[in-house]
Amino acid sequence: MTTESLSSQSSAPQSSAPQPSASQSSAPVFDAAFQAQFEALLRWRRDVRRFRPEALPEGLLERLLALAELAPSVGLSQPWRFVRVTSPGLRDKIIANFEAANAAALADYSGSRAALYARLKLAGLREAPEQLAVFAELAPEAGQGLGRRTMPETLQYSAVCAVHTLWLAARAAGIGLGWVSILEPRAVASALSVPERWCLVAYLCLGYPEEEHLDPELEREGWQDRTPGQTRLLTR
Ligand SMILES: Cc1cc2nc3c(=O)[nH]c(=O)nc-3n(C[C@H](O)[C@H](O)[C@H](O)COP(=O)(O)O)c2cc1C
Repeated sequence: MTTESLSSQSSAPQSSAPQPSASQSSAPVFDAAFQAQFEALLRWRRDVRRFRPEALPEGLLERLLALAELAPSVGLSQPWRFVRVTSPGLRDKIIANFEAANAAALADYSGSRAALYARLKLAGLREAPEQLAVFAELAPEAGQGLGRRTMPETLQYSAVCAVHTLWLAARAAGIGLGWVSILEPRAVASALSVPERWCLVAYLCLGYPEEEHLDPELEREGWQDRTPGQTRLLTR
């Protein structure tokens, strides 16, 4: 078994940003230039399915995971669990899982929509040099249950927060990330031999992107337009 569990004990980020001690209150000021850069990061973050083959530099994945762990979590439960999938045999199982799920999804469409779906590239599982399965631990000791009594699903939401933080951190480092959900989750958990109470939240492909785009690939391919300004905001 070459699957390696990357736990929260990964090495600390080698950041040039000031690292105030917990008792210090020297909070940085995020000036207009930073805000513009941050907006650019959000606008240029993409779901990436086309990767160059070269590996990530030594230590970068660990540094990105250390940043992902800064994500918020319900009750500070930090329920995210990462499995780095390196074994070719396990990767083949994930590909087979994806291909079966994708064929079933295609069968739900008909006519021109089915033809368009069949043309979409919906995962970079064969190319991505790094792959991570992200799970939520459904009974973490940390957090002592705070905040999740009435909404236990907040554990999965917390793991999603870590994924999004990782997504932005990766993009800032020039690394593309692609989220693959066209998978049968229990089969992924079983293939990776994770504990019973780990629930699959995401399967992620990471690597240097082949292309950079300001628009989502699904929009470019004519599957779905973005609807800016139509975010539902009800006032009561
Ligand atoms: C929860 C979640 C699951 C996703 N699953 C897939 C997937 O299985 N395959 C895929 O190609 N993209 C997947 N995506 C990426 C979305 O298609 C993508 O975010 C969306 O089209 C907008 O593009 P952008 O991320 O480049 O802005 C997923 C995204 C999220 C948030």
